[in-house]
Amino acid sequence: MRSLGQLPTNESWKSAVPNAARGEPFGYAQDRLVEPFVVSLSNHERPFEAQVQGERNKPIWGVSVLMLHERDQRPEVKLPPPRERGEMSVEEAIARRRSVRSYRGDTLSLPVISQILWVAQGLTGTGTYRAAPSAGATYPLEVYVFVGREGIEGLEEGIYHYNIESHSLSLHKAGDLRGELSQAALYQDFIAQAPVDIVLCAIYERTSRRYGRRAERYVHMEAGHVGENVHLQAVALGLAAVMVGAYDDEKVRQVMGLAEELNPLYIIPVGKPR
Ligand SMILES: Cc1cc2nc3c(=O)[nH]c(=O)nc-3n(C[C@H](O)[C@H](O)[C@H](O)COP(=O)(O)O)c2cc1C
Repeated sequence: MRSLGQLPTNESWKSAVPNAARGEPFGYAQDRLVEPFVVSLSNHERPFEAQVQGERNKPIWGVSVLMLHERDQRPEVKLPPPRERGEMSVEEAIARRRSVRSYRGDTLSLPVISQILWVAQGLTGTGTYRAAPSAGATYPLEVYVFVGREGIEGLEEGIYHYNIESHSLSLHKAGDLRGELSQAALYQDFIAQAPVDIVLCAIYERTSRRYGRRAERYVHMEAGHVGENVHLQAVALGLAAVMVGAYDDEKVRQVMGLAEELNPLYIIPVGKPR
């Protein structure tokens, strides 16, 4: 996202969001529980996001706009809708789940990665709630996918970010970087072998803003929930996975080109078991 500067000193937002300038409602809260709100300016042809000061659960209007961002224009890869019914019961997936560290090189399909990302952080129900529980619905996790060469049909190799609301991927960094990720994870070579590696990252501030020092444990608990969802979904799809916690944080951060606020918490290679 490119910031358009602090407001209201930058007057450009008035033409971008004329009804906001008139003090009328101009958007909707995407994450009602996090302040300041992030809103989508859906009534304008250019994609904008604004950070505004407002009251939780209240319509977004008559509020002061703090920052206006132009959304990154990189094309999004829309994922097919997830399924809510599968071939295998939860009980069977739990009974069969095992950490597997050897994968065939088979390319995964887009519906498969769609399903795996949806169980990680996808929206469920009609509101903004997600597939895994989150303390106070503060949602501190961001999901990235390392896609290897021919890792996913129709996708160039690279690191992709999962966009929750649009259920889509956007390219974060180009290139097959699984080898570098494996090195950063103490040379656990199955990371380079798996067609995809899911990486869960956390922004602790989203949760600590509400829960203070207790937030750290909440964020880690949440990563556990998401990891297990991913692992069980992989098994139910005839795939295999392993949770990887042994890695050098700084090296992973470097390979991924992560902003300082993002902390890698889990690496989850997923592929067809060998
Ligand atoms: C927090 C955590 C970190 C882990 N880190 C690694 C890891 O870095 N490398 C690895 O091969 N397995 C890792 N594992 C997987 C465990 O070794 C595995 O779950 C354990 O041996 C039990 O086997 P099972 O998962 O097949 O039941 C990790 C598991 C957890 C829960």
